[in-house]
Amino acid sequence: MENETIYILAIESSCDDTSAAVLCNNKKLSNIVATQKIHEEYGGVVPELASRAHQQNIVPVVHQALAKANIDKKQLSAIAFTRGPGLMGSLLVGTSFAKSLSLGLNISLIEVNHMQAHILAHFIEEENSKIPAFPFLAMTISGGHTQIVLVKDYFKMEILGQTLDDAVGEAFDKSAKILGLPYPGGPLIDKYAQLGNPKAFPFPKPKVDGLDFSFSGLKTSILYFTQKHTKENPNFLEDNRDDICASIQYTIIDILMSKIKKAVKQTGVKRVAIGGGVSANSGIRKALFEAEKKHGWETFIPKFEYCTDNAAMIGIVGYLKYKDANFSDQSITAKARYVINE
Ligand code: KG4
Ligand code: ZN
Repeated sequence: MENETIYILAIESSCDDTSAAVLCNNKKLSNIVATQKIHEEYGGVVPELASRAHQQNIVPVVHQALAKANIDKKQLSAIAFTRGPGLMGSLLVGTSFAKSLSLGLNISLIEVNHMQAHILAHFIEEENSKIPAFPFLAMTISGGHTQIVLVKDYFKMEILGQTLDDAVGEAFDKSAKILGLPYPGGPLIDKYAQLGNPKAFPFPKPKVDGLDFSFSGLKTSILYFTQKHTKENPNFLEDNRDDICASIQYTIIDILMSKIKKAVKQTGVKRVAIGGGVSANSGIRKALFEAEKKHGWETFIPKFEYCTDNAAMIGIVGYLKYKDANFSDQSITAKARYVINE
């Protein structure tokens, strides 16, 4: 198997992005993402609408991924798909599609844990890409998760800490909603934060033991803060948008950085990788670059393309499992709750 050329078709449908990718061994040939705009009007993902949109998007997205990669489906070695965690209705679309296609083409099927994929995305080989050596610390920061994971090997992961309530992406999105910004608000807070003063409005930081996180208190204090100020000045939010966004972002990044610093101290592991949608944030990227210089860490920050949900990260896990002949059979089912080290 060592010299074999392996083509993996990967499918991601855990939340509100329908994505398909083709990998040749550990290299990406294509990575198509159809982002569902429908949720914007509702201020958050509506599960029922997400499943319907996946249903509509999946065939065209897979066709595009194969066409862009210039690969015929007969050349595929296996199909990898996101089994979980995620929204059940959304996962069912990708899971059923992958199972049917593997049956139709008579090729192997490989189930993938979405959160493992956010971490293992660092192993997609690209020009100038830096691949972490084991062991390393991974902070997975997305709309659904916030974890610090000790990665001992590809599939040997230990959760050192996680959120007790909201995920960090949710903290961004819910804060943005309070400010009247559309969903998903994370990227918008990031955009406006770059124009504002991060010290303008100090928000309290939660006191949580060990390496766990909590973000629900921050959301509440932002709500009270905006209610109090808009009572005094109805234009407060418009007048101070950039400073408020910068202050929120500063607080969130400070919470993340203090926990990852603690994890480095506790484990003695100075290799730090991030993954998940929030790793696209300019504040966390900058803070990690600074920590690299200041504390001598080796940091791994994914390309923007591999930060938010995408199928290429599912494909790299598919490739790693293919090499281990770690296949799934047709009895496999989607799993809405699926722990990273299960
Ligand atoms: O990993 P992801 O695409 O989906 C999940 O598995 O959750 O993460 C989406 C999350 C959303 O909460 C979105 O607001 C956040 O990532 N996000 C950001 C940025 N880009 C995406 N948050 C802050 N700053 C950004 N630049
Ligand atoms: Zn994700």
